[in-house]
Amino acid sequence: MAAVRLVAPTLLLTAAAASCSSPQNVLDPHGPAAMRIEELWWVLFVMGVTVSIVVAALLLLAIRRGRQRERGTQGREINGHYLVSIGAGLITPAVIFALAIYSYVIGAGVYPPVDEDAGALTVEVTGHQFWWEVRYPQYDLVSANEVVIPVGRRVRFLVTSRDVIHSFWVPQLQGKIDMIPGHTTRQWLQADEPGRYRGQCAEFCGASHALMALWVFAVPEEEFGAWLDARRQPALEPADPDVREGRAVFVAAECHLCHATRGVARPEALGDAGPDLTHLATRETLAAGTLPNTRGNLTAWISDPERIKPGARMPPTVFPPDQLRALLDYLQSLR
Ligand code: CUA
Repeated sequence: MAAVRLVAPTLLLTAAAASCSSPQNVLDPHGPAAMRIEELWWVLFVMGVTVSIVVAALLLLAIRRGRQRERGTQGREINGHYLVSIGAGLITPAVIFALAIYSYVIGAGVYPPVDEDAGALTVEVTGHQFWWEVRYPQYDLVSANEVVIPVGRRVRFLVTSRDVIHSFWVPQLQGKIDMIPGHTTRQWLQADEPGRYRGQCAEFCGASHALMALWVFAVPEEEFGAWLDARRQPALEPADPDVREGRAVFVAAECHLCHATRGVARPEALGDAGPDLTHLATRETLAAGTLPNTRGNLTAWISDPERIKPGARMPPTVFPPDQLRALLDYLQSLR
């Protein structure tokens, strides 16, 4: 009964997790690597439950034998029990050893060999406290927090970090991989169906680790080409005077020292302390998946980033209402 009481809730929880349609559900894979990882998960789960039941049954058997011995009613089948115990004592570790090998084989299989790198579409993702810098080096394209990939194609990811260790993880597409400062790690992602896949930093990296999310959008090949063409364009020269004024506010407040915005001159030597904003208005979220990209949230973020995202490196800035309005007009014009 004890075993049933232990196993039943676990099975129920597992069934609930498997049927859950969360955008970060490992048990709802949408790519070849994630499917293998899901297979591994189920095999380990079923075998783990089986081994637990066998061990619990042997334990109960041993207790029963001990009591019988105390009462002097020890049965005739003692040799049989020895055989069962010894047999299970050999079989169970053998099963666990086989699972370890199987787990290693799957783990090695989800990372294709280096010789497949040549000519592959490459995305470089760099972790920062607490956002993701995204580069497409073959297309000279820089973005942040949202990655677009063509569906059905294996895309090579090169990940690293600018500050502390982060971990790049898009559960429905691939296993997690650490982003280590000063070291670049390879990873592959492939989505078999068009869709949106949520990723999350999977290594504690500071106060807002939990608020470091990203989105991967898998789109058909033609749509991907169109997206690349559109995003490679510099920001348009604003025709609207309010937008032009907003751009002046942006520069006067020195936003451009951290945030590259193609079309706005900035000193060459500066690093990319904050996300590239050239096409900010096309992004769905602000602050790495923390808030929907709306005018209200943009206002809240600019005036007090710390309240929304503790530990964020961006300082708060309070603008007079007319300047803020112009700045928001400018930021929302960045399409
Ligand atoms: Cu970045 Cu946790």
